[in-house]
Amino acid sequence: MDHKKQTKKRIAVLPGDGIGKEVIPQAVKVIQASGAEVGFTEFDWGADRYLRDQTTVPPDGFAMLARDFDAILVGAFGDPRVKTNIHAKEILLGMRFKMDLYANIRPVRLLNAALCPLKGVEPKDVDFVVVRENTEGVYTDAGGVFKQGTADEIAIQEDINTRKGVERIIRYAFEYCEQHVKLDGSPRNKVLMCDKSNAMTHAGGLWQRVFKEVSAEYPKITAQHMYVDALCMQMVHSPRQFDVIVTNNMFGDIITDLAAGLQGGLGMAASGNIHPGRTSMFEPVHGSAPLIAGKDMANPFGAILTAAMMLRHLGFTKEADKIEAAVLEAVRLKKTTQDIGGGLGTTEAGEWVAKRVAS
Ligand code: NAD
Ligand code: IPM
Ligand code: MN
Repeated sequence: MDHKKQTKKRIAVLPGDGIGKEVIPQAVKVIQASGAEVGFTEFDWGADRYLRDQTTVPPDGFAMLARDFDAILVGAFGDPRVKTNIHAKEILLGMRFKMDLYANIRPVRLLNAALCPLKGVEPKDVDFVVVRENTEGVYTDAGGVFKQGTADEIAIQEDINTRKGVERIIRYAFEYCEQHVKLDGSPRNKVLMCDKSNAMTHAGGLWQRVFKEVSAEYPKITAQHMYVDALCMQMVHSPRQFDVIVTNNMFGDIITDLAAGLQGGLGMAASGNIHPGRTSMFEPVHGSAPLIAGKDMANPFGAILTAAMMLRHLGFTKEADKIEAAVLEAVRLKKTTQDIGGGLGTTEAGEWVAKRVAS
């Protein structure tokens, strides 16, 4: 049966490990409360399954996800019992790479001034998006080790950047900028490319050339450039200047944890792994946080905002709006977990949002 022909959208749910298993049920509950016409199928891919039967991704797992589902909702992967982290690599990076989810969209929004560790910074000052290349760079894990364990050991980690990969992500950033407005309704109008082309001249050179070419096709959008080190300082010093940032896989990973700090921490950050027209995957930016796992402490809002992002992607605009408004209200009323100043547990915070969404 071709599920995509049904009106009810089908969501594959992969809670994964650690706090992923706590925050994802809250996100699912909130989606259900929103009334969005979706059906869920849960999968047990993760550390427990791997330790039980050595399966990371079942045979044809990615083809099944692409064929049978409209979107994938993921928690996090990473477990101290799996030292190699092989399951996370095969499942999470597997989805990104093998399903070619080349655009990792990480919105950075401050919902309430009280959440920002910087003084005098308000929600209007933090409303940008990082467009992270998601299928190339050092994440391809190309390279090798030679003479391992000897004094002559050599380790090589290649940074792979293709013309096609660089061009499509830069183009995505410009298209995103053209098609999205800020939370206050004002248009987006700047795309900043972040690299380290002063030191990494080969890869940086390709990004620079492609950025120049593609930006010329979008004369209404201001094209800017910043080295990644300078960008880190500016993000803390004056975050207001940022609008759309496009960067490679590794820098995108690092700067979005920094950016999560502006939003109140990792518990508040959402993301989507997108290939336009294909089954895409949505996950909070945070990991499995083993130290707080199993304690009903994890902030579910990153996962819930991720669910809203997924619903918006699937066309459930009203439902996504309702969810985002409910999280905003929860933050305002401090109906939150401890990490952002409230006194609720993961489940209570999720339930508060679900009730608000349903009302
Ligand atoms: P992490 O994001 O799990 O945690 C970093 C810090 O942020 C910790 O102090 C943690 O307690 C806090 N934190 C994270 N999410 C939170 C939440 N929802 N509520 C409250 N506090 C939260 O990063 P880490 O500790 O570097 O990594 C732990 C494991 O997760 C590792 O195995 C790592 O590889 C993996 N990881 C997976 C993903 C993913 O699957 N998408 C992302 C990042 C890290
Ligand atoms: C993220 C994570 C992953 C990444 C890890 C778990 C491989 O940190 O999604 O930000 O580096 O992309
Ligand atoms: Mn990360």
